[in-house]
Amino acid sequence: MVCLHALAPLPTALCAAAVLAFGSSAATAAGEVNVYSYREAKLIAPLFDAFTKETGIKVNIVSAGSGLEQRIKTEGANSPADILLTVDIARLQDAENAGITAPFQSAAIDKAVPAQYRDPNGHWIGISMRARVIYASKERVQQDAITYEELADPKWKGKICIRSGQHAYNNALFAAYIVHHGEEATEKWLAGVKANLAQKPSGGDREVARDILAGKCDIGLANTYYWALMHERDPSKRPWADATRVILPTFKDGGTHVNLSGVVLIKTAPNKENAGKLIEWLAGETAQHLYADTNFEYPILAGVKVNPTIAGYGTLKPDATPLVDIARKKKAAANLVDKVGFDN
Ligand SMILES: [Fe+2]
Repeated sequence: MVCLHALAPLPTALCAAAVLAFGSSAATAAGEVNVYSYREAKLIAPLFDAFTKETGIKVNIVSAGSGLEQRIKTEGANSPADILLTVDIARLQDAENAGITAPFQSAAIDKAVPAQYRDPNGHWIGISMRARVIYASKERVQQDAITYEELADPKWKGKICIRSGQHAYNNALFAAYIVHHGEEATEKWLAGVKANLAQKPSGGDREVARDILAGKCDIGLANTYYWALMHERDPSKRPWADATRVILPTFKDGGTHVNLSGVVLIKTAPNKENAGKLIEWLAGETAQHLYADTNFEYPILAGVKVNPTIAGYGTLKPDATPLVDIARKKKAAANLVDKVGFDN
């Protein structure tokens, strides 16, 4: 497999020699593992450096903004990919549906990752969480608790900002709403939320805060880490964050909707054993600490502290709906968004 990385195609004999030479060097005695990632290489490099330091296993990263599942499919049996790192339950499920995943079962994962955050058959595994929350105007919104159901209340008429209803983050929340209340009630609710929008759905999650600062709306839906990124890492957007505060909404009969960043083991993985070690390591103490502080995500491993900025939002009470149930309602949610003309 190493030969796949060679600059020029090598004859088989030479290839074997190269592998031998590669394998015999002390530095690489533990071998390697190839990670395909939708997360930027420079963001995840420190994480994998720590893994290499602990295990001696070298990590090669291929990162891209899109198309990695297709690439793995096209590479077929020759794909060097061992694991795929991605965000959002929709993408994790897409990877499984693309037929590129292998089930990964391990006692360490069963212990570290609560059952609701992994595929029952092991085709995808959550390694951190983000919550879909409310950014609210500090000036104009007094209340500090809210339910998702309440977003359809006419008291918010003309006051809500949101990105496209078809975006994966909203899709997953709407799918969770279906799991809680059924399709009929969700359609009614979505129509109610749409009636409360200050403007056509647009932009991304950060723009919700921007538009609140500009006075275009009072509240909006966004993910937890964006607020922290604007506040801690992006001076140009810090005023957007400063105009808002984060409220952790809940379902009336549940908790706050969370989504995942996660990992899948690739069916054709040439370094399966090392891939397994890396997956277990990602759910372990060292990686979970790094993840929480580098990406402002909620650790999946119980007992690992959330970043202080994220902790400042209040105590997260995650909704109990298994992510696999949310994935099953993804299509129904997308259909309802179209049906009520949410984005029109
Ligand atoms: Fe995001």
